[in-house]
Amino acid sequence: MDYMDEKVKNDLSSRILMALVLMTFCIILLRESAGFMDPKAKYFSRHELGVTHVLVTGGAGYIGSHAALRLLKDGHRVTIVDNLSRGNMGAIKILQDLFPELGRLQFIHADLGNAKAVNRIFRENAFNAVMHFAAVAYVGESTVEPLRYYHNITSNTLLILEAMARHNVNTLIYSSTCATYGEPEKMPITEETPQFPINPYGKAKKMAEDIIIDFSKTTSMTVMILRYFNVIGSDPEGRLGEAPRAELHEHGWISGACFDAGRGIIPGLKIRGTDYKTPDGTCIRDYIDVSDLVDAHVKALAHAQLGKLGIYNVGTGQGKSVKEFVEACKRAIGKDINVEYLSRRPGDYAEVYSYPSKIRRELNWTAQHTNLQISLQIAWRWQKSHVNGYGPPTIVS
Ligand SMILES: NC(=O)c1ccc[n+]([C@@H]2O[C@H](COP(=O)([O-])OP(=O)(O)OC[C@H]3O[C@@H](n4cnc5c(N)ncnc54)[C@H](O)[C@@H]3O)[C@@H](O)[C@H]2O)c1
Repeated sequence: MDYMDEKVKNDLSSRILMALVLMTFCIILLRESAGFMDPKAKYFSRHELGVTHVLVTGGAGYIGSHAALRLLKDGHRVTIVDNLSRGNMGAIKILQDLFPELGRLQFIHADLGNAKAVNRIFRENAFNAVMHFAAVAYVGESTVEPLRYYHNITSNTLLILEAMARHNVNTLIYSSTCATYGEPEKMPITEETPQFPINPYGKAKKMAEDIIIDFSKTTSMTVMILRYFNVIGSDPEGRLGEAPRAELHEHGWISGACFDAGRGIIPGLKIRGTDYKTPDGTCIRDYIDVSDLVDAHVKALAHAQLGKLGIYNVGTGQGKSVKEFVEACKRAIGKDINVEYLSRRPGDYAEVYSYPSKIRRELNWTAQHTNLQISLQIAWRWQKSHVNGYGPPTIVS
């Protein structure tokens, strides 16, 4: 009797053990087999011959959403990662509606400062390249909250690089800025112009560049660093636009202020400094249309070869004064705008414009949309039809 009890007990325990082993095995198998939870996931978790899967960080933002649109139009597979701190779910929704087919676009709501989340994203997806747009990006704000900028820009870029290395993703296109040059002594700015950034935004980007460049020297990774000048305009077909949160308008760019004045949200424009050594006394900047900028990214991706490090200025090479910009804006919106002329703002420099010959020579890229008025007209059309931007930031995955 005792012997029988023992035998039954042993039988039972070995069955339970076997069942547990089987269950664990099944769970592992199911977790590993992409598409168990979500049939869409399998497209993104495997490399497919002839398909380039691009991770677009910050793809809910202004430039990232335009880049995602172009990549999707060109037939690429796109994963957007954004924490929506500054971007718009509305932009994602538009892209999802334009490209509803399985395996074209997925959106992941995540913070790139979260190392666990970043690693998971790289583990679960088979990327061929990363376009890293995500960043906080206001010079003024960076002087008030420097640590936020170093964390968001420099430290998050480091996390992404580590994840790329760990998961064998070998192409990075990095969004940098002419703010890394600071106040150069000589114009125009070439890629050889010494970089001495003067604000935390520019410094954080320069540090991120340094980390990327140092790392690229030790690996076979291809890195393209694009230093943008002042970005304007929007999708010529009117699907996407620039829609910063209301609270960020005060930090924003001149085009945003111009449109706000055109819509009567602010009483007019304040131009700071009319006694610079420039033909009309106002500052000169290099304005690059977002369609051209996105094209530079596509060309950078196409020219990416293993082990290559490419650093390029992305500008038109033509400086336009603030007065010229305001006149173009008035014509674009078809209204007069109140302009108040004030004394100089500390830290502003007279002239900033690029010498974009390296990118023309090496990537066969030149700016095509160099008429300020037309770029602003296109952007104004979108602004007029989206008085509340993309609407409230609800998350729809
Ligand atoms: N707009 C310009 O004129 C300009 C000029 C030079 C360089 N840049 C660079 O271009 C890039 C894009 O700028 P933009 O004008 O489109 O800005 P944006 O604010 O419109 O877009 C940035 C996006 O990144 C997201 N983001 C920020 N921090 C994040 C985080 N921790 N995790 C996940 N997502 C995060 C935001 O939610 C937003 O959607 C930035 O790197 C910026 O520094 C912009």
